[in-house]
Amino acid sequence: MIPKVEMLRYQSLSRYEKKSFSRRGVSPVDLNDLLAAYGIPREDDQKRTVLLVRLAHEDRVYGILMALIRMGLSAGSEETELLGELADEIAFGLHVLETQTKNVRNEMRLSASEERYFKIINGSADGILIVDEAGLIRFVNPAAEKILGRKMERLINQPFGLPVVAGESVELDLVGVDGKMAIAEMRVSEIEHEGRKASLAMLRDITLHKQTQADLKEALTKLGRAMMATIGVVTMTVEARDPYTAGHQRRVADLSRAIAREMGNSEQIVEGIYLAGLIHDIGKIAVPSEILTKPARLSKTEFELIKTHCQAGYDILKEVEFPWPVAGIALQHHERIDGSGYPRGIKADEILPEAKIVAVADVVEAMAMDRPYRPAMGLEAALKEIVDYKGVRYDITVVEACLKIFEESSFQFNRS
Ligand SMILES: [Fe+2]
Repeated sequence: MIPKVEMLRYQSLSRYEKKSFSRRGVSPVDLNDLLAAYGIPREDDQKRTVLLVRLAHEDRVYGILMALIRMGLSAGSEETELLGELADEIAFGLHVLETQTKNVRNEMRLSASEERYFKIINGSADGILIVDEAGLIRFVNPAAEKILGRKMERLINQPFGLPVVAGESVELDLVGVDGKMAIAEMRVSEIEHEGRKASLAMLRDITLHKQTQADLKEALTKLGRAMMATIGVVTMTVEARDPYTAGHQRRVADLSRAIAREMGNSEQIVEGIYLAGLIHDIGKIAVPSEILTKPARLSKTEFELIKTHCQAGYDILKEVEFPWPVAGIALQHHERIDGSGYPRGIKADEILPEAKIVAVADVVEAMAMDRPYRPAMGLEAALKEIVDYKGVRYDITVVEACLKIFEESSFQFNRS
């Protein structure tokens, strides 16, 4: 008997096994020679042979088959040929077993990964559907059923009915079978489904998001309307104390808005300038009404008192959080480019662009319309003033925009 366990204990192979590994065919080895190669003492004096043959299929070597026979044998005998055939059969069997094991492992790996994807797709909050080249729905996940308001059985193999363009994001107005309206955002990408080109559409229910947006817009509109109503009340309050300038602020607001638009400002900025125009003289509330309504030329002291309306207006408005520099415009609407204005005598770039617009509109309106202490000088004189002092007192761009809207007769003061 071969002391196999002892041989295996050596872990490395003897030259006989190594030789068998590297070549085809059966190699007979004397048992005692094989044992000696491992340093194991001879068993007995009987002649016994170990046949070594490698177990190989194509280029794959699986191991060595060793057979002990009680006689001396040489290569090429019937026994060695039979052993060679047996080794080929065993190697083929091992090859089949190995291939099948690999396939089973791959299938198990694939089905585990399929299951994982299936779970992800089914658990997705976004609707996922596959539409084939003929426009038929081939797959829907539960979220898509919910968004489309229809069960899978009523969707599969039915026409999707909407154009699916890869790379585009579109909003869909959907009506479910229950009549419930929904808005969905759809993004499409190209995929291969069951070996054919198809479209993968991702649907996201944005109904709530859209509703929130609409509610917010409505709230802002309401807020804007309430703010404008409040501004209207403030304007009326100021003008009630100063009937001669009634309508002045509204006309300045109208002209400021027209100039701002002509200059190409955004509607958001235009809105702020209009609003500032409506209340730019709010500080007059702090000036005694006898001075405001005095039907004669003002004394120096009285004029100094009038001048305080800019700061007073700023002090009132600075506490209000407008999305525009309304308080600053009220403060600076009598400032001039060359620093000759009031209350601070600031110059050019120190003045807010919006205040430069209201300043020109204010001067033009004041000269074109009647004042408590004098009749109107007329529009011509008003425009001459801004032309004469263009780039000196008044901003060049603002003056040019103002002249253009009057020249093109696109603007007229409302006299009411
Ligand atoms: Fe003013």
